[in-house]
Amino acid sequence: MMRTELTRLLGISRPIIQGGLAYLAYAELAAAVSNAGGLGQITATTLAGPKELEEEIARVRRLTSRPFGVNFALGHHPIDDLLNEALQARVPVISITGGNPAPYADRIIASGARLMVLVAGVRAAKKAEELGASVVIGVGFEGGGHLGRDDVGTMLLTRRLLDAVNVPVVASGGLADGWQLAAALALGAVGIEMGTRFVATQECIAHERYKQALLEGDINETLVIERSIGRPARVLPSAHVRAILNLEQQEAGVEKLLPYIRGELNVQAVLQGHLEDGFVWAGQVIGLIHDIPTVAQLLQRMEAEAEVACKRLTHLFDEGSPGLASE
Ligand SMILES: Cc1cc2nc3c(=O)[nH]c(=O)nc-3n(C[C@H](O)[C@H](O)[C@H](O)COP(=O)(O)O)c2cc1C
Repeated sequence: MMRTELTRLLGISRPIIQGGLAYLAYAELAAAVSNAGGLGQITATTLAGPKELEEEIARVRRLTSRPFGVNFALGHHPIDDLLNEALQARVPVISITGGNPAPYADRIIASGARLMVLVAGVRAAKKAEELGASVVIGVGFEGGGHLGRDDVGTMLLTRRLLDAVNVPVVASGGLADGWQLAAALALGAVGIEMGTRFVATQECIAHERYKQALLEGDINETLVIERSIGRPARVLPSAHVRAILNLEQQEAGVEKLLPYIRGELNVQAVLQGHLEDGFVWAGQVIGLIHDIPTVAQLLQRMEAEAEVACKRLTHLFDEGSPGLASE
């Protein structure tokens, strides 16, 4: 059990949120994270429709009695029907990313759900606070999937957000272990969100080749596509990704890029393992991923690491202590 403002607000026992994961975050993964003490989430916007969301929510509730969330990415399709479904089902936590949550915030809060908003900068964080969000999640440049446009890393972004807003801040982007969890808490965050690390777990339905590629990759190997059209996103390298980057270098424009960045190429790569012919989201944190544990093993290990990290610092200021050595 770790206690922070986040665990109190959400009714969880470890301050770790599983981020939205397009085509990957269904009931099994969400329930595994919630059962392990974190906050699991279903990703709504890559489901076929409200009926499927209703079924996923019912399945999570069969698999866990703990709190869970539903994640909505804006900017792809209208979310109204899906959101209505989640609110009718009285989902305890809703997270929103990729756009302005203003049209939805009042309804979400009135339903009794906690609203979490993902941001990549101060302006969006202040807006989320104004709208009544319970939590702001700041996603740094290291992260997997879609990023902010400012190229600011997680450590700096977290401190800047804490500077700018009073609402609790969660750190995200480039985080995978308990040492980093302790560091995020030391910065003043109330918890962390992880995306890529949860793809490399037993409960995630990602294709084995995708998981294997996460194990093999290092911190300097991911690439950022879609920057030329104003929506940068971090991916694993592949022949297809290099073709996208070539087109972007030639300033091909959105029309020519669309056939290369369409969702089906992501789904096929993610679920069928056609990595070279498509693209998969992944963060720089792949350099810290060396195994595919169960979610419970991962969260247990992270808590133990965070405890070691915190204890290691206890004697930092003691008179006569030999001083910290590298771990
Ligand atoms: C495979 C994958 C799919 C993602 N899909 C979504 C999504 O549908 N909605 C969302 O809010 N964020 C999405 N993200 C972002 C994550 O929720 C999280 O914010 C990000 O991965 C944090 O950085 P990390 O990968 O370094 O942990 C995705 C990330 C990955 C790696």
